[in-house]
Order: sequence, then structure tokens, then C-alpha cells
Amino acid sequence: MSRLIVVSNRVTAPESRTRGPAGGLAVAGSAALREYSGFWFGWSGRTTETFTGEIERRLADDVTVMTIDLEEADFQEYYNGYANAALWPLFHYRIDLTADDRSYGEGYERVNRRFAETLAPLIQPDDLVWIHDYHLIPLGRELRRQGVTNPIGFFLHIPWPAPQLFTTLPRHQQLVAAMFDYDLVGFQTAECVAAFEAYVLDEAGGRRDGARLSAFGRSLRADAFPIGLDTPDFLALGRSPDAERACDRMRAHGVFRQLIVGVDRLDYSKGLPERLLGFERYLQDHPEMVRKVLYLQIAPSSREGVEAYQTLRANVLALGGRINAAWAEMDHAPMLCVNRNYSRAELAGIYRAARIGLVTPLRDGMNLVAKEYVAAQDPADPGVLVLSRFAGAARQMTDALIVNPYAPEELADALHAALAMPLAERVRRWEAMMDGVVRDDVRTWRDRFVAALEAASERPVSERQTPAAPRFAARSPRPDAIDSAGAYELRSGPGSAASAPGWRPTALG
Ligand code: G6P
Repeated sequence: MSRLIVVSNRVTAPESRTRGPAGGLAVAGSAALREYSGFWFGWSGRTTETFTGEIERRLADDVTVMTIDLEEADFQEYYNGYANAALWPLFHYRIDLTADDRSYGEGYERVNRRFAETLAPLIQPDDLVWIHDYHLIPLGRELRRQGVTNPIGFFLHIPWPAPQLFTTLPRHQQLVAAMFDYDLVGFQTAECVAAFEAYVLDEAGGRRDGARLSAFGRSLRADAFPIGLDTPDFLALGRSPDAERACDRMRAHGVFRQLIVGVDRLDYSKGLPERLLGFERYLQDHPEMVRKVLYLQIAPSSREGVEAYQTLRANVLALGGRINAAWAEMDHAPMLCVNRNYSRAELAGIYRAARIGLVTPLRDGMNLVAKEYVAAQDPADPGVLVLSRFAGAARQMTDALIVNPYAPEELADALHAALAMPLAERVRRWEAMMDGVVRDDVRTWRDRFVAALEAASERPVSERQTPAAPRFAARSPRPDAIDSAGAYELRSGPGSAASAPGWRPTALG
């Protein structure tokens, strides 16, 4: 069996998988490697003064993790800059927040080159390479430049925008040209595949040949691979004592009240101000419910080095304050906004206690909180999922109450309908969604992608080459760094993960 090499910017170490709700990447990396040999390669989350290319290896929970530090300018220009101030807003349909700058583009190219130069010497002839997300779009091209001829696949966890939006990006053609160095490009939904194909055909003068798209003198396969949960793992967490405790605590807090829960990174794509306006509208429409509901919004901070996130944080906190100022009484507040993260086990318990799961992003690749909420429910008395039509998950979870997150009155009506929904209908809707959560889990997703990558690659193993000489010497673990169980010791790097700006141990969608 081939080794699988998973590459992403954020490496959510398996030992921290239990922290926070699982974003696609957090679930993907470790689950992808679970039954494979290979390793997970990415950024350590630390910055140093100058880039060294030194690789830190460790073995955790049977997954080998290899990370490199980036330098401070990389962090600013590549992570805060091109990835999160240009690509992220644009791919989430926020041209108004998209800030491009020449230095951002240069930093993005530089970091992708650095990833390739460090990773290429570690690749063996029959390895499959699987690159994840918008930070690393040109990495396939950079690996090819390093002489890597292995099958390389790319999966985008976030939406691919319509061509009308994508072409507002100054380097749009370069970015798509780089994608044609992949054998397979995967998206969350058929809608994203169609948007990518429309660009290739109409803007890049490409064509479709059967299952493949051709442009820039090369061809690739593009398809939809909707990501799923590590469902057995999450169900087990839901039965843990931490989950039980959190569930009991929430239920005690919500005696005589119906709980509504939202869990999101503080990100403008998640539609938090719009959601709060929808809740405010609900209270206005149903003043008799003010003392009968409690809306808990868990919203840990994210990407605080990017200005749009600072502004959003202030807006959300101000709106939450306004709602409570208008509706709270001396012994009751209708909403709680908590600016911190909880463990996944605690979240499973909180989800179970909540009558409504409110997942209303303005735009989202998939959104695994929607799937986790469903997976956490008590089958005998399940809650109702209120889901934005603009989340990739809405394509699969059609038994949720689907809403337009831009319309406060639709959110208010959905809250009302969910709270009034009879048990039999809640059970019917939940069973239909739970079937999908169990069937289309992260292993199905991985197996489909890996099989498609093997099929899409035109190069037989015997013809693959790997670069002869590493440009940066990949540090093999010193023999004394391997403990008796074969686990690598964790070497501490020049910076500390905890102090690196923006670092969180988990990736929340
Ligand atoms: C989304 C992205 C991931 C990212 C995660 C957390 O899920 O698709 O690539 O890792 O958000 O964001 P952060 O910037 O903290 O890595």
C-alpha cells in the first residue's frame, strides 16, 4: 500500500483532537492517516526570526507529524496577508473585505516554495501526496519544480467562488494555472466544481475531455468530495463523562427554558451579527418567549492579527450587549456570548442539551458543527438543526430547517417552528440526517479521494522520480530521540506555540 502524505498549513496534532469542535482539517488530517502509513506535514504554529527549514518530527497517536517553523514576515504576508486577508474573504464572497498587496502575494509564493523545498526530499516514489486548503494552492506546482512526479491531489475545504467574484483577484489566472499541476482537485460541493469548471472553460480557454478538464497545456480531474465527521470517534466522545457533565450542567441552567446553541470561530463568514439580529427579531415577534429561551453562542477568537476579525469581534459583543440590555431582567438574560473554546466532549454534551442547533454561516465550505450537532442528539428526544442554505452541509442535510441567514425574519420564523415542532417530526428529521452522518463519514471521504487520486494520476510508479538532493537537510530523528515505543520525542523549537500569534490548538471550521 502507498504511503499517504497529508500537507496542510495548520497541523492539528492528534493529541489535541479532543480540543474544540472539529473543523474539516482537524478531522481530516488525523483520520486520513489512521489506517495509512505516511505523515502529516505543515506549519508548527511558531515563528522564528529567520527560516531554517528544520523539521520537527513526532509520533503521536500513531500519526507521524512533521512541522516547520515560519519566519515572522511569512506569518504576516502569507498567513495574515494573502491567505486570510485576500483568499479567505474572497472565497467567502466578501470582496469588500478582500485586501491584496504585492507583499502578500510574494509571501504566499515564498512560503509555498519553502514548504516544497522542505517536503520534496521526504517523498518516496510510491507515495501519494494530498495537499489541503487555500494556503497551499501553488504547492503542487512547487513540488513539480522540485522534481516530484508522484500523484498529487488537492482538496479545498472552503468554497470556490463564482467566476464573477474570482476574477476580481489580481492573480486569478496564475492561481488556477498552478492547480493544473495536480492530478486531482477536490471540492466540497458540486456547486464549487461547477464554478471552477466555468472559470476554466470561460476564462482560461480550457475544455472538458470526458472526466478531465484541460487548460494551460495540462489536464486534471475535478470532483466533489463532501467531508464528513469521524463519527465513531465523536459518538464515543459524546458518551464520555465530560460530555455527560456538560449536558447536565446545561440542562440545569436551562430548567424551564429551551436552549439554543451556536458554536463558531469568530469569523465574518459565520454570519454571527446576522444570527444575533435574527434572535433579536424572534424576541420582538414572541415577547412571551423571552423567559422561556436561552441562546448560548460559543465564539472563540480567531485570526486576531487580521483587522476584519477585530472589527467583527467588537460588533458581535456590542450586539449581544444590546440584546441583553433590551430583554434581560434582574434574574434572567436571554443570551450568553462566550468568547472561549470548549473541549469536543463538552461540546457534545452542550449540543445534546440544546433543543436547537443554530448553524447559519453566510458562506461555508461544509460546516461540521452541523454534523456534530446531529451526531450528539438523544435519539429519543432529538433537537432541531437550523441550517443556512449557504453552508455546503445544506446540500446533504436537507431535513434541517434551511434558512437564508441574511433574513432576520426567516431566522426568527425557523426558531419559532423548531421550538414548536412535535416530537415525531423531530425524530423523523433527525433519523434522516443521522443516516447521512453515519454513512458519509470522514473515512468514506478519504477513501473516495484516495481512490480518485490513484485513478487520476497518469504516471505509473516506475516512472516517478523524487529529487536527488535535499536543499534543506531534513533532520532525521536522532537515535536517542526515539523512545522504546518508537515514538519521537518532541523537540522544542526556537519559539513557543503558545506565544505564536493566532495559534490555537484546533481548527474550528
Ligand atoms: C478553516 C480552514 C482551515 C483552518 C481553520 C482554522 O476550517 O478551512 O484551513 O485551519 O479554518 O483557521 P486557522 O486560521 O486558525 O488555521
